[in-house]
Amino acid sequence: MQFKNPYPRQKVSLSLKNVSKQYSQRNSETNIVLENINIQIFEGEIITILGKSGCGKSTLLNLIAGFENSYSGEILLNGKPVKDISPDRIMMFQESALFPWLTAFQNVEIALQMAKVPKNQRKNIVKHNLDIVGLSDYSNSYIHQLSGGMKQRVSLARALSLNPQILLMDEPFAALDITIKKSLYKELLDLHEKTRKTILFVTHNINEAVLLGDRVIVMSPRIYGIKKEYVIDIPKDQRNDNLSIKNIINEITADLYDTV
Ligand SMILES: Nc1ncnc2c1ncn2[C@@H]1O[C@H](COP(=O)(O)OP(=O)(O)O)[C@@H](O)[C@H]1O
Ligand SMILES: [Mg+2]
Repeated sequence: MQFKNPYPRQKVSLSLKNVSKQYSQRNSETNIVLENINIQIFEGEIITILGKSGCGKSTLLNLIAGFENSYSGEILLNGKPVKDISPDRIMMFQESALFPWLTAFQNVEIALQMAKVPKNQRKNIVKHNLDIVGLSDYSNSYIHQLSGGMKQRVSLARALSLNPQILLMDEPFAALDITIKKSLYKELLDLHEKTRKTILFVTHNINEAVLLGDRVIVMSPRIYGIKKEYVIDIPKDQRNDNLSIKNIINEITADLYDTV
């Protein structure tokens, strides 16, 4: 399937061409997960990816992150093939992979340390990113002292501190309750305004996908790939209680029911 560029003047950031992925099974059969995925993602876009459990959303993100190198097709970042993990593509998971015995500050700093950022630059970067996610006052709190929402904000600060070009988010808010989710949606959109990062956000929550995405990609396990995409050109601060948004939600709901 070919998609037209909804933002003609924007630069392509990430490009997937005929990307297919299969896993070998013990009985020497293969399990096809993704088949001929074609998509172009533009700089600064938020793409939300929706689909039922098991349809290959995480697999897609893992390929882009460089966790898996055995696939066919091409994944290009700024025109160059993606190989292995790199700070230009950082993944944030549902369960915050934080060290509970370290403070918020130390959890962000350790990522910079691993990325070999010189020590004298780390402090400012950590402070700046904790500030962006609204956690300046909790810099010295230990992870076990923080709520679920705050932990995810630390994870977000940690991901941002590496200044990735692409932020990959795999159901980052799925385990949180609805009020916390709502404040994190706002924070994510605010920080996107500030940083204009390209974000790929996987979710199985239709409302979340439609609230956050510039485009919503609907995946289907039946075709091992992208069933449909929706360009949502309604300003993000006008999406609550919006009739067009409700219609899109209804359409996507029908799409998902259709994708056994
Ligand atoms: N490491 C793996 N080995 C074998 N099969 C896998 C592996 N990872 C995922 N799969 C299979 O790929 C399919 C898609 O999984 P996944 O990408 O996790 O889906 P989603 O994130 O949409 O729930 C599932 O059928 C799953 O069993
Ligand atoms: Mg998944």
